[in-house]
Amino acid sequence: MKKKILLMGRSGCGKTSMRALVFSSALYSNPASTQRLGPTTGMELSTFRFLKNLLINLFDCGGQQTYMDSYVEDKREQVFKDVGAFVYVFDMGSANNEEGEDGWQGDLRYWRDCLKILRQLSPNAHVVCLLHKMDLLNSARRQDIYTDRVKDLRGKAKELGATELSCYGTSIWDETLYRAWSRIIHELIPNIATLESNLTEFTKITAATEAVIFEKTTFLVIARSGGDTVAKSVGGAADKAKASTGAGSSPSSKRAATTNRLSTVSSHGTLADDKERDSLLEGYPPTEAERKALLARGEMHPERFEKISELVKNLRGSCNKLQASFESFEVRGATFSAYLDVFTENTYIMVIVADPRVELSAIKLNVQLGRERFE
Ligand code: GTP
Repeated sequence: MKKKILLMGRSGCGKTSMRALVFSSALYSNPASTQRLGPTTGMELSTFRFLKNLLINLFDCGGQQTYMDSYVEDKREQVFKDVGAFVYVFDMGSANNEEGEDGWQGDLRYWRDCLKILRQLSPNAHVVCLLHKMDLLNSARRQDIYTDRVKDLRGKAKELGATELSCYGTSIWDETLYRAWSRIIHELIPNIATLESNLTEFTKITAATEAVIFEKTTFLVIARSGGDTVAKSVGGAADKAKASTGAGSSPSSKRAATTNRLSTVSSHGTLADDKERDSLLEGYPPTEAERKALLARGEMHPERFEKISELVKNLRGSCNKLQASFESFEVRGATFSAYLDVFTENTYIMVIVADPRVELSAIKLNVQLGRERFE
């Protein structure tokens, strides 16, 4: 199955950087290396095989003004037809985030024009907004700016009758990039439900605490099972909010919102305000305070596997520099053991065991025996 992803946004907003970090090999394993990238000329197509049954055509659309004009004028059919996911990147750092036509308002207007065309030519496309370069925002104001921007975007989407819109705060400097892209790709994978139910069965049979499957090249999280009370990060619905009110989202989305957002109830706000704020913050990563609160309650970091995606990509880059290759590792902690290994032709698996009676060697054997089922 072929899926087209359209990656758009103004020049310099970070499109090619994220493409290079997430999808390319070791050449761009370090975010700092993206500073060497030049502007993209026109539309650059990269094709990736993802698992056995998905071919992704990723169109990185150069963001210089003349190109941007042509996408919505003479090239609209070529650009917006048969799109599986429309990913628009908003630059939250620098002057692009200032109010006014040269900044946020202009960007918002252009995005709305694109969405209008998309609704005609690819009505079923998954619409995603990445509020990118979050690291450049003052940390004290980051959450407020994010919620204001998401509100604007939902308002515009609603005007056009776009019912579902996924927004994520991202940065190349942390795991948020992998979190967003794991979810974008998750929406496109055919038969994902079968893969997930097989993994759930595997977790039960092996008495593991959690099991996660990563795609081999990108190391994006594809499926996970077992675990905790914390929001499951991969289920695409978890972060997808109805553009209409945000309140009509699915039960899993509500669970994600309430478990992720721990500290938004203020003494001044009403419950309705809090709910709206929670729904606006669904794609926002947990803050330091929220992470600490989770740990204090004995729960785990909700983005731990996306952090592993980021770490393994870095590790692989370092191994390549030494002309070594990386295949597997195991960790034996005081309260848990973890094992990461090649699984199928296109995936890695990570299994976490908290029960001291379960031997890691038994898990390894089960990984070997389970491979065939997942091929
Ligand atoms: P065009 O090809 O002209 O459309 O630009 P682009 O959107 O592809 O931008 P590009 O990826 O080339 O990134 C421009 C600059 O932004 C590079 O110097 C990146 O290192 C930097 N950059 C990308 N993402 C981030 C981020 O999350 N945070 C920060 N601080 N800088 C970033």
